[in-house]
Amino acid sequence: MVEIKKIACLGVGLMGQGIAQVSLMAGYDVVLVDIKDEFVDNAYEGINAGIKKVESKGGLGEGVTSADIMTKCSKSIDLASAVKEVDMIIEAVIEKMEVKKAVCKTTMDNGPDHIIFASNTSTMSITEIGKDSGKPAQVCGIHFFNPVPLMRCIEVIKGASTSDETFNTAIEVAGRLPCLRGKRYIAPVLKDRPGFIVNRMNAPVQIYMNYIFDKAAEQGIPWEQIDADAGDLMPMGPTELADYVGLDTMFHVGNYYAETLSPDFKPGKVLIKMVDECNLGRKTGKGFHDWSQGRPKIDKSKKAGIFNLENTMAILLNEGCRILEEGVASGFKIIDDANMAGMNTPGPFGAGKKNYAQWAELLEKLADETGKDYLRPCELMKSGGFTKMRK
Ligand code: 3HC
Repeated sequence: MVEIKKIACLGVGLMGQGIAQVSLMAGYDVVLVDIKDEFVDNAYEGINAGIKKVESKGGLGEGVTSADIMTKCSKSIDLASAVKEVDMIIEAVIEKMEVKKAVCKTTMDNGPDHIIFASNTSTMSITEIGKDSGKPAQVCGIHFFNPVPLMRCIEVIKGASTSDETFNTAIEVAGRLPCLRGKRYIAPVLKDRPGFIVNRMNAPVQIYMNYIFDKAAEQGIPWEQIDADAGDLMPMGPTELADYVGLDTMFHVGNYYAETLSPDFKPGKVLIKMVDECNLGRKTGKGFHDWSQGRPKIDKSKKAGIFNLENTMAILLNEGCRILEEGVASGFKIIDDANMAGMNTPGPFGAGKKNYAQWAELLEKLADETGKDYLRPCELMKSGGFTKMRK
């Protein structure tokens, strides 16, 4: 295994800051890298505030202070020189393949021979990112969930060219990163397929949500009533969660899945309009809801009656079965556990073991109603064959 002492966090927006914070808290030296001084300066302040908050609750351990930890944090706006003495880089730059490939190549051209490049991409091919870097065996995925310090799941992805040494080192590093809420959960992703495990399983829910958003817009139904339909079973209702993740992210990801999985993933009218108007959710202060004063208080007293959570469970089960069919995860327990650790919501297999036949019928109806054939149940779901694939 490669010995990791110093980590570069490249792209220090919200996610990059979270990654840097937990890396520092794990005891690694960290260099924050971005393209402008103000970005790395802001990130440094945000990370410092986060670590101070943990300190104020006595969460840093005996004799460890936030000031000690922050001495291990440096800043750079030049990737090529920043990676010279780094053992691993975790990138969280914009979700554009050409940018990911370029930073991977710069890292491999300038970093030490043993450097590992880990991408925090939500969906993209790790194999493609590393392909032209000169050292594809040293490229893997380490995919976090927002907010990184609070969400337990980290997926570690093996690309087609990733060596066992790189993969095992990444699993080891990820396992050391603390989580402020409960125990870290590391999900090994054995095949480089779009969206990996958690995002992939949840992806086709967006096909359904785009349909619901557009239907609500056509019928003049207020957004909060969709979240009211979800009740308290989701920690954030669908429109709040969309704002939280970022509507631009959903838009780009939808287009990516439209190219890689099925055209049914193309973003709907509402999403396209919001992105066009630059109302991207929490990050711009406005999306479905107003975030200018912090997390919106959503009035869930009136339901729309158009969003059915059972449909989403059926969609999740179907996609979870496709993940098993493709060999991305070895068994359904990992998929359910990763979903709980990455989204704080139960995965579909527990309830799906009993309900798959009825849910398969729901999906046939939903595919007819929406005109989206991707929602039709796959063989492994319809047959219940997945019930024998626990581990
Ligand atoms: N450092 C230190 N402390 C921090 C911190 C940080 N960086 N961030 C938050 N905290 C503290 C807060 O200050 C707060 O402290 P307090 O209790 O003393 O006030 C505490 O942690 C809890 O924070 P919140 O009050 O914000 O937590 P909530 O209880 O409101 O829960 C949530 C927030 C965990 C985000 C919850 O709403 C949730 O589970 N939402 C769903 C999130 C989700 O689904 N994420 C996945 C998105 S998909 C994804 O990321 C994949 C990617 O590819 C796009």
